[in-house]
Amino acid sequence: MSDNWPASVRRIVLTEIDSTNAEAARLAPSLSAPAWVLALRQTRGRGRRGRDWHDPEGNFAASYVTRPSGPPQQVALYSFVAALALQDALVMATGRRDAFALKWPNDVLLHGGKLAGILLESLGRGAQPGHLVIGIGVNLRACPPFDGTGLAPVSLMGEMGIALEAEAFLDILAPAFAHWEARLQRDGFAPIRDAWLARAARLGQPLTARTVTETLEGIFEGIDATGALQLRTSQGLRAIPAADVYFA
Ligand code: BTN
Repeated sequence: MSDNWPASVRRIVLTEIDSTNAEAARLAPSLSAPAWVLALRQTRGRGRRGRDWHDPEGNFAASYVTRPSGPPQQVALYSFVAALALQDALVMATGRRDAFALKWPNDVLLHGGKLAGILLESLGRGAQPGHLVIGIGVNLRACPPFDGTGLAPVSLMGEMGIALEAEAFLDILAPAFAHWEARLQRDGFAPIRDAWLARAARLGQPLTARTVTETLEGIFEGIDATGALQLRTSQGLRAIPAADVYFA
């Protein structure tokens, strides 16, 4: 564990697990403090919208489990906290600030390809939030197969020739996450939103947002105070809480 490891956060490293999000959810009731759960191999990784997440050997798969203390509407904003922390950790590890960008809702891009994904799973019911699991997958070593939709995956090794071990990356990521989490708790979403927008890919440019019910085209104008995508369409400004986004 590094000297910068955040106080009172547990660090759990597993050789192999089905999914770190699933394991974090199983552990949640017995945890008295937030924890990072890292797996060196994940056999049934989960992606957004019920998709599989493939983890070639050497990639990063970890989940942070916590019981957020803020209001229930703050829970979804943790995906922006995670994206900022992830980008900071990647910049710290590589020294290359300009190579990375953020894609709404919560991907990290490297040279325009998908390097990392984030999956939030709330274990709470109703208005009383329980535990929140934030799963993060990073293609450190190798690319998973491309399913032909969205952006092609890239790896840190393939794009930059940098070999980064998953445990070493967790030691950089955990303090970065603690920093942005504290910022959200102390100052609310505004500074998180500003920082995220400053790093956003394709701001002011055309994109397509596909929700479960419709496909919308428009100009990416920003994100609102709830984290929803703001899209200027031919019908006016739309706030889209959840969608898959495709660049033109
Ligand atoms: C996405 O679809 O872009 C999100 C992918 C999230 C994958 C990570 S890997 C660690 C954690 N455990 C899982 O089962 N999924 C997340």
